[in-house]
Amino acid sequence: VTVTSDCPDNMNVITNPGLSSQVLTNLIVNSVKHGFSEQDTGEISLSLRELTATSFELDYRDNGKGISKENLSKIFEPFFTTQRGSGGTGLGLNITYNIITNALKGSVVCESEPGQGVRFLIQFKVSDRIA
Ligand SMILES: Nc1ncnc2c1ncn2[C@@H]1O[C@H](COP(=O)(O)OP(=O)(O)O)[C@@H](O)[C@H]1O
Ligand SMILES: [Mg+2]
Repeated sequence: VTVTSDCPDNMNVITNPGLSSQVLTNLIVNSVKHGFSEQDTGEISLSLRELTATSFELDYRDNGKGISKENLSKIFEPFFTTQRGSGGTGLGLNITYNIITNALKGSVVCESEPGQGVRFLIQFKVSDRIA
């Protein structure tokens, strides 16, 4: 799996690093476990852009198997998993959603079609910038 990131260098912010890394970990583990389950290699790309001095948008994509329309409407629900019985809890994206909307004062949407990978657009706020 290759990961490419397009993020501004030398940008320092005050935020919650534990929760931010939990969001990224959940997305990356899902790409590997679900998205790339039927392929030998995979690509993940991350791109961050500034909206205002203290709000940002993260564009997360993978080129995996994607999500059906029916499942896409449920992925943020607690306990929704397509891997029941093989390690899935269905809690990862629900926790991710709650972290982004509550702790990071932001929003998250997922766009996907079968065979087209996934795209998560995540907006979030930070407490402050450090010059
Ligand atoms: N990158 C992805 N590619 C394809 N399907 C995904 C991806 N991320 C999440 N999903 C789907 O969303 C469901 C819910 O994800 P999650 O809440 O993390 O639960 P879990 O990983 O325990 O199944 C997964 O079971 C899977 O069907
Ligand atoms: Mg998961």
